[in-house]
Amino acid sequence: MGHATLTALVEEKTLPPSFIRCEDERPKVAHNQFSNEIPVISLAGIDESQGRRMEICQKIVEACEQWGIFQIIDHGVDGNLISEMARLGREFFALPEEEKLRYDMTGGKKGGFLVSSHIQGGAVQDWREFVTYFSYPLRSRDYSRWPDKPEGWVAATETYSEKMMDLACRLLEVLSEAMGLGKDELSKACVEMEQKIIVNFYPKCPQPDLTLGVQRHTDPGTITILLQDQVGGLQATRDGGKTWITVQPIEGAFVVNLGDHGHYLSNGRFKKADHQAVVNSSCSRLSIATFLYPAPEAIVYPLQIREGETPVLDESITFTEMYRRKFCGELERDRLKKLPK
Ligand code: SIN
Ligand code: FE2
Repeated sequence: MGHATLTALVEEKTLPPSFIRCEDERPKVAHNQFSNEIPVISLAGIDESQGRRMEICQKIVEACEQWGIFQIIDHGVDGNLISEMARLGREFFALPEEEKLRYDMTGGKKGGFLVSSHIQGGAVQDWREFVTYFSYPLRSRDYSRWPDKPEGWVAATETYSEKMMDLACRLLEVLSEAMGLGKDELSKACVEMEQKIIVNFYPKCPQPDLTLGVQRHTDPGTITILLQDQVGGLQATRDGGKTWITVQPIEGAFVVNLGDHGHYLSNGRFKKADHQAVVNSSCSRLSIATFLYPAPEAIVYPLQIREGETPVLDESITFTEMYRRKFCGELERDRLKKLPK
């Protein structure tokens, strides 16, 4: 292996060729050229009155119809826990290389540390290091793959996972209502919710204009709850990649992304968040993504097909099958193709 972690490359003047993207894929907007276009929604009072709840639902509908992304504030998650997670995350990535590589997951290990990943076999490397935890259902936890340093990270991650699960359940209820369904419909469609956490670290990059921290993608699951620091770098597009905006970081807020599963359940009425992360040459960036997935055997099919709509899927498939079709490169913008087995 030429290099083990990105940290070793930060002092270089030029970017190694394996990270250089073709012109089309390179960043079009700077990491700190912030936009306020993504709606910021306060969840304050959501359980207090039907009127307030409907007002919040309406904002979610607008955000999901346009972007599949919104930010939430007043979400009830303790700010101290959030800053503790961010602090511990940064401490992990500052550990010596050998320490991080104890959790190396190249070679197919489930959970651990990975550097400069290739999303599902992509040819160009992403400028990021990350560590990932399978956190729910509880039986999926393999503590031997949870880094034991820095001290306190395991405990903080357990608490954080639990709070994220509570928040996800509340969000699925309002999203269900926003889709015009009963509040339990989305969680029922998930059968048993799965949770995975990815802590992303994007070191300073010598030539940030030539590369990406995470290449353009949509998340496969139902929703993703993303915490980002104040540096900026998360970008979204709603016109198929012609124009991009950089999401304005807000202290203590979460970015909520609708994934493919959520998109299909809404029959495509709610967009799946089309996004990427850019890097920069002046400071490193940390983000923590909590992914919520349905059970592998959960059925993916629109929960409701409204008058005048055609189904976005030709048939009911399992989430495992949806995932397979997505990563076989047969996923069209809004439809899933049938594939030979
Ligand atoms: C991701 O979408 O996987 C990461 C986004 C971010 O770091 O902001
Ligand atoms: Fe993502």
